Amino acid sequence: MVVVRRATEADLPAIAAIYDVEVLHGISTFATEPSTLDYWRERLDSTHPGDHVLVATDADEVIGYAYSGSYRPRAAYAHTRETSVYLAATARGRGVGRLLYDELLGLMRSDGVRLVVAVIALPNGGSQGLHRACGFERAGVLHDVGRKFERWIDTELWELRLSAEVSAGP
Ligand SMILES: CC(C)(COP(=O)(O)OP(=O)(O)OC[C@H]1O[C@@H](n2cnc3c(N)ncnc32)[C@H](O)[C@@H]1OP(=O)(O)O)[C@@H](O)C(=O)NCCC(=O)NCCS
Repeated sequence: MVVVRRATEADLPAIAAIYDVEVLHGISTFATEPSTLDYWRERLDSTHPGDHVLVATDADEVIGYAYSGSYRPRAAYAHTRETSVYLAATARGRGVGRLLYDELLGLMRSDGVRLVVAVIALPNGGSQGLHRACGFERAGVLHDVGRKFERWIDTELWELRLSAEVSAGP
């Protein structure tokens, strides 16, 4: 049975292993060097409102993760968070991405996040399908913004407004 829960320190090697397959063999991330545990620990340790790291497990094995974190570091972006979701190849196409995102977006909504941004490198029909299914809308395309494996790559920005209320906060 697939379970979605908050990630712990013990999950970080499995999270890194799932991500690093895409780092080394895919274009969904523009990273080209395998990630370090410190890279993941920084996300896990974030105390910024709206930031979470979740894992999906099946028979106690981590089969995917999703997280929310900084979109851009400038202070005025504080109420905007960027999300990311990766599954092991064998876990795709059976609703696990949706389970992770539904849980993550619910937490972010409770935290008062105003805008969620996702950046999708093309082509990626699975990610476009997931984001569309979760209510995101396509906000625009950056052409040839990346180059990996000797190819120019476009990215799409997708956005989801979680809260349109005027915030009294800073
Ligand atoms: C992108 C990814 C997370 C999607 O997760 P998933 O578990 O395969 O997706 P789900 O099975 O939960 O599908 C979610 C929705 O997207 C739709 N969808 C999935 N794949 C699709 C495709 N290729 N084309 C169109 N729609 C698709 C599903 O129909 C579903 O819609 P529904 O909830 O209305 O039925 C997963 O494929 C993955 O890890 N890919 C590699 C890493 C990656 O690209 N991450 C995203 C970086 S931006």
